[in-house]
Amino acid sequence: MTPRRASSRGAVEPFHVMEVLKAVAARRLSHDDVVLLCVGQPSTPAPEPVLAAAERALRAGTLGYTEAIGTLVLRRAIADHYRAQYGIGIDPDQIVVTTGSSGGFLLTLLAAFDPGDLVAVTRPGYPAYRNDVLAAGCRLLELACGAETRYQPTVAMLEALPEKPSGLVLASPANPTGTIIDAGELAALSRWCAANDVLLISDEIYHGISFGRPTHSAWESGQQSVVLGSLSKYQSMTGWRIGWLLLPEPLRRPVELLQGNLAICAPAISQAAGVAAFGPDARAELDGHVRRYAANRDILLARLPELGIASFAPPDGAFYAWCDIGHLTRDSQAWCADVLAATGVALAPGIDFDPVDGHRFMRLSFCGTAQDLAAGIDRLVAHLSR
Ligand SMILES: Cc1ncc(COP(=O)(O)O)c(C=O)c1O
Repeated sequence: MTPRRASSRGAVEPFHVMEVLKAVAARRLSHDDVVLLCVGQPSTPAPEPVLAAAERALRAGTLGYTEAIGTLVLRRAIADHYRAQYGIGIDPDQIVVTTGSSGGFLLTLLAAFDPGDLVAVTRPGYPAYRNDVLAAGCRLLELACGAETRYQPTVAMLEALPEKPSGLVLASPANPTGTIIDAGELAALSRWCAANDVLLISDEIYHGISFGRPTHSAWESGQQSVVLGSLSKYQSMTGWRIGWLLLPEPLRRPVELLQGNLAICAPAISQAAGVAAFGPDARAELDGHVRRYAANRDILLARLPELGIASFAPPDGAFYAWCDIGHLTRDSQAWCADVLAATGVALAPGIDFDPVDGHRFMRLSFCGTAQDLAAGIDRLVAHLSR
C-alpha cells in the first residue's frame, strides 16, 4: 500500500543555504579550508552568566513544563528590558515566551489570521516569513523594497496596493540587508496599520546589534502591533530557542491557548538561564561581540570594492551585507556553489531571500572572526582576478 500523501502545507520552498551547508560538510571530508561567510548565527556561546545559571538550573529543579506563556521571572526580566532600553512600560502579562521568535511568528500567524487572509512581507526578506505565511494557508504579498527606501516598506507602498492586506511583516535590522527603518517611517507605518485594521508584525530580533543608527520598537508608537523578540542574536543563544511576543490585548488569550496546545511551553532550562542574559555582566560580554561585528563590518566595507562590489545595502545592523553581484553572475546559487568549490568560502545565495531578483545577489555574514573574514575576502579577490 502506498503511504498517504503529505499535505500541500508542507510543500514549502527549501532554505537554499542548507544546500551550501551540505556542500560544506562534503568539502570538509577532503579539505581543511572552509571559511563560513554564509551563516546567520553568532560563532560565540551564550554569555558566561547564562551558562552558570543553566548549570544551577540543571541541579536545582525538575525542569518540567512551565506556564504556557513563560515563567513570570523571565517575563519580568523582558519587561524590565523594554523599560530600560526603550522607556516603554509593559506588563509581564503582555508577553508570551516562545520557542525562538520562529515559534512566536507561527503562533502570531495562527492567532491573527484566517486561511485566505492576505499577509504582506518585504522582498528581499527572511525566507521563513514567506514559507510560514503560505503554510498557515494565508495569501502572500511580497512588497519589492529597494535601496531608495533602505529595503524597508513605506506607507506610500501600502497606500498604492490594490488590496489592503490583513497583516504586514517587517524586520529592523533586517535579514538579509541589515538595514534599519527610520523612526519616523516606523511610527507612520504603525499609525497607518492601526488606522487601516492591518496587523503590524515587527521583527526586532536583531536589536542590540547596530552600528550607530538607532533602533526603535514598534511599541514606542502604541501597543496595537505584535513585536517579535529573541535571545538568538544579540544574546548569542540561537540553539536555546527562546523568543518572545509583545501582544496586543485581543491576541493574548488566543496565543496562550495555541502555545499550550502546540508547544506547551518554551524549554524550561533555557527560560531559567535566559533571565541572566539581561544582567549587566552578560551585557558587557555581549557588547564585546557587537564591537567585533562592528570591526568586521569596517573591514568588509573597506574591501568590498576589491571584489568589484559597488552596490550593497547599508549594513546598519545585524551582521549581513546584501551584495549585488550582477556583474559576476545571473545565477547566485550556481555562483556560490562554484566559489565554494574553487576557494572553500561559503556564501549564501540571494535566491533564498528574494525569489525574483535574488539570482544576482548574495548575502555575506560577518559574525565570525576577523581572521576568517579577511581570509575569505583574500580568497575571493584572488579567485575573481583569475
Ligand atoms: C529576521 C529573522 N527573524 C527571525 C529569525 C528566527 O530566529 P529565532 O527563531 O532563532 O529567534 C531569524 C533567524 O535567522 C531572522 O533572521
